[in-house]
Amino acid sequence: MKKHFLITAGPTREPLDPVRYLTNRSSGKMGYALAGAARHEGHRVTLISGPCDLDVPEGVDYLPVETAAEMYGAVERYIAKSDIAIFAAAVADYRPAHVPEHKIKKTGDTLTIDFIKNPDILGSARTEFGYEGTLIGFAAETENVEENARGKLQRKGCDFVVANDVSRKDIGFDSSENEVMLVFAEHTEPLPKDDKYQLSLDIIARALAI
Ligand code: C5P
Repeated sequence: MKKHFLITAGPTREPLDPVRYLTNRSSGKMGYALAGAARHEGHRVTLISGPCDLDVPEGVDYLPVETAAEMYGAVERYIAKSDIAIFAAAVADYRPAHVPEHKIKKTGDTLTIDFIKNPDILGSARTEFGYEGTLIGFAAETENVEENARGKLQRKGCDFVVANDVSRKDIGFDSSENEVMLVFAEHTEPLPKDDKYQLSLDIIARALAI
């Protein structure tokens, strides 16, 4: 059965002033691999992506966004149409409370910027958006990987969470390979280290089996 996937990918970019922004090291490779693999298997794919230097897989409905607030808006708008939603984006947890109209000047020896919390997009899926389809989150952890991922799964109402240890240098961020475990409510399934496209096929197969 062909399904409709909604996938978030990449980093977000939060402006500090008209010429500067705050972002993170996400390359988007995992989310784009998921989008390409799902499309290749004949599914319909909506890819909501922060700024990435990657080719958009052919045949995918592509929605570029910059900030977490924009990503939230795009997910809110499109999630009801999807059967399977996979949140692979690395969303900034905070954004500057005020973005000045003009460039911040080099005046003092220190600079203090107040940040406010961004909306938790994954955490809003079941609650704010009333989403009832299959929901998959990612968890990038540096310690207690499985335990932290299971907490996330329960808090956010996911069917499973794809967890990886980002303290390891050989996998994860910007790498084309990753080693993850799929954390379900009652069990954990470690997947062997593989390239992100092959892992995507495994993740999609598990998602379709729910
Ligand atoms: O709690 P944490 O940010 O580590 O959770 C990671 C998961 O939540 C990822 O699937 C990420 O895409 C998603 N997320 C989100 N919106 C946020 C923060 C994280 O959708 N504001």
